[in-house]
Amino acid sequence: MTRMPLIAGNWKMFKTVSEAVETAGTLARNLTGRDMEVQVMIAPPFTALSPVSRVLKDTPVALGAQNLFWEKEGAFTGEISGPMLVSAGCRFVIVGHSERRQYFGETDETVNKKLKSALEVALIPVLCIGETESQREAGETFSVLDKQLSDGLKGIKLKDPESWVVAYEPVWAIGTGKTATSAQAQEVHAFIRNWVTKAMGENVGGALRILYGGSVKPDNISELMAMPDVDGALVGGASLDPDIFLEIIRYSRQT
Ligand code: PGA
Repeated sequence: MTRMPLIAGNWKMFKTVSEAVETAGTLARNLTGRDMEVQVMIAPPFTALSPVSRVLKDTPVALGAQNLFWEKEGAFTGEISGPMLVSAGCRFVIVGHSERRQYFGETDETVNKKLKSALEVALIPVLCIGETESQREAGETFSVLDKQLSDGLKGIKLKDPESWVVAYEPVWAIGTGKTATSAQAQEVHAFIRNWVTKAMGENVGGALRILYGGSVKPDNISELMAMPDVDGALVGGASLDPDIFLEIIRYSRQT
């Protein structure tokens, strides 16, 4: 089963509008024909989505948001809905990032509502799951992931493997400089693919893209991408500098 790799940049709470526009422009201008073998997405903060979308128009770089709220509109001060993201030019949206779970009280139940609302407006959700260090040490990695998948995806039966993406992000590897070894990543990615195949069938499980995230850098991407079930990366810190992100895109190619 061939799956188009996806290298996604999560800019988190970094960059003003002008900084975001400049970074996105540099990235788009410096992609070469060969980089098209990989799909590229960036997720700037909400304030920069519309201006960055204008910069990315007619380029191969896709735009994503870092979060959404599940209602379409209403009296929900400070929230942003799926239709608003679509109107700002987004094709992707990150859902359930561990920082949102850790600092903003997101649970598998809210993740589930967010996934449904993203799918309803044909935004491609990047569902983030992953265990903490103490859960890994206690041997709970697979039971934690199983719960995040079954509760997060409750009532969702996808037929089109391209309509969503999963990102495995071990919490202990995010922003810490500690990366999972490629063998650790492969073991978990195979578990996730197997879980999805059982729940939604071979067509969906086999073609679903599963990204790895957590301290991805130019010097570890190649080894990670060599694993059969690693289909790309969700990159935080190293996506902020367009030259470093371009290196990650280049080294992610296996040919
Ligand atoms: P990092 O973040 O690459 O800075 O570790 C990854 C993420 O949080 O998506």
